[in-house]
Amino acid sequence: MLQVENLAAGYGKVKVLHEISLRVEEGMLVTLIGSNGAGKTTTLRALSGMIKPESGHVRISGEEITGMPSHEIARRGLAHSPEGRRVFPVLSVEDNLIMGAFTRLTGSRPKGDVKADLARMFELFPRLAERRQQQAGTLSGGEQQMLAMARALMLSPKVLLLDEPSMGLAPKLVEEVFATITRLKAARVTMLLVEQFAAAALEVADFGYVLENGRISASGSAASLKVDPAVRAAYLGTAHG
Ligand SMILES: Nc1ncnc2c1ncn2[C@@H]1O[C@H](COP(=O)(O)OP(=O)(O)OP(=O)(O)O)[C@@H](O)[C@H]1O
Ligand SMILES: [Mg+2]
Repeated sequence: MLQVENLAAGYGKVKVLHEISLRVEEGMLVTLIGSNGAGKTTTLRALSGMIKPESGHVRISGEEITGMPSHEIARRGLAHSPEGRRVFPVLSVEDNLIMGAFTRLTGSRPKGDVKADLARMFELFPRLAERRQQQAGTLSGGEQQMLAMARALMLSPKVLLLDEPSMGLAPKLVEEVFATITRLKAARVTMLLVEQFAAAALEVADFGYVLENGRISASGSAASLKVDPAVRAAYLGTAHG
């Protein structure tokens, strides 16, 4: 579904990613874990076209999308729920969701039934349903996170990129975010999940990659990474929760 080969990217002269390769198969939940500054957000940005890769290949369903502008990439079915949950603060919850469907309405992909998808999002995120007319900027942090995820899902993406959906949330809401991810997985949404809570991410994921200083240092089934001594020491120790 999503294939990344020898991807290199950074910011101007600063090289962050050094030829990383990974794949996300259809219906799979793959997690990318790593320390602060390892390059996880940069990876998602390079995949979704927020920054231009320096070299390498990104393909979605076999189609090369490397270097395309982000709206073209979105049209091909890659949705990005960015770090720091960017919602349109003055728009209502419902209008934020409708905006999420916009790219799909202008592209060549099946347009589908936006109303039905909206109803599905309100089913999946009942907290949002109660607040559908509320200005998004006035939602709590956890609610804004739900909205950012729901908005990305309104693209009916082939692959959903999630950057630290639990960031800054209280434990109860972190649980809720992971419960939502589990529901999306049950609905066969293909996802690449970046998470600070490596243990929780490996708990829900099928497969994982460890990013260290812009390089993939380990990969394997989530079950095997969970018991890998090096991964345990670096990312699952008590110091990291
Ligand atoms: N806009 C930018 N300009 C220059 N350097 C940047 C920029 N954004 C990130 N970097 C640098 O790129 C490196 C990787 O950052 P990135 O945000 O991808 O890390 P991360 O793995 O997502 O970390 P975290 O867990 O803290 O979110 C860091 O050294 C960071 O300082
Ligand atoms: Mg990050």
